[in-house]
Amino acid sequence: MLVSAKEMLKKAKAGKYAVGQFNINNLEWTKAVLATAQEMNSPVILGVSEGAGKYMTGFKTVVGMVNGMMEEMKITVPVALHLDHGTYEGCLKCVEAGFSSIMFDGSHYPIEENVAKTRELVDICEKKGMSLEAEVGSIGGEEDGVVGAGECADPKECKEIADLGVTMLAAGIGNIHGKYPENWKGLSFETLAAVQELTGDMPLVLHGGTGIPEDMIKKAISLGVAKINVNTECQLSFAAATREYIEAGKDLQGKGFDPRKLLAPGTEAIKATVKEKMELFGSVNKA
Ligand code: 13P
Repeated sequence: MLVSAKEMLKKAKAGKYAVGQFNINNLEWTKAVLATAQEMNSPVILGVSEGAGKYMTGFKTVVGMVNGMMEEMKITVPVALHLDHGTYEGCLKCVEAGFSSIMFDGSHYPIEENVAKTRELVDICEKKGMSLEAEVGSIGGEEDGVVGAGECADPKECKEIADLGVTMLAAGIGNIHGKYPENWKGLSFETLAAVQELTGDMPLVLHGGTGIPEDMIKKAISLGVAKINVNTECQLSFAAATREYIEAGKDLQGKGFDPRKLLAPGTEAIKATVKEKMELFGSVNKA
């Protein structure tokens, strides 16, 4: 059964490790992430962007697929199904569809509006026993049409949003979705420390997990990050393994064109990436 991300993140924050959010796109992705979480005995958050939800024909399909897989695969580790960078309307749709967690990305609104909309969603999530992630200070780069300037969050605004009773808080600290540019200045640990100072026990969320060097990941966890989002890195691993299969001409050998064969190396590559991240984040055996 899907769970809210509340307990797993509370434990992660207290235990100084982070739970990975891995974005899913289809059946192979979901299967790979769930199988790895179970194998690693790790809690996990399945992230679904609005674009990915649409691709999979809608949030209800996603809920049906994930619930079905959890049962058929006998998944016993804690799994949260979470909307990534949701609009207000998208959040309501996911509540209705049976997600166990949502993110409302109000970072592009003036702070008063972000507060007002987040407050309404806090009430809804409390009634449903769901977890809610809010965002202050946009994450840079582009993810599924969500474009952010990448500014650093104002710690006082973070406190204002945290005090509304959200479950976890994403604060922009110079992180970017997708690959980091050559001239990236790195994460602003100054901002992160100031946010953690004001928000205390609130689990903080680090978006843009792809390509952040290991030492920065570890330092971010030591400063209160309890959830780390990874999307692009699984896409890159999947694409590289699929390319290798095709370039080696394996789709032309025997029944190598069968999608179950053609997509297998990519699926295995996602598993390897997820495993590596769970080890780095410290969530192995924390189920
Ligand atoms: P990356 O694609 O950079 O890993 O970011 C993922 C993310 O933050 C999802 O919200």
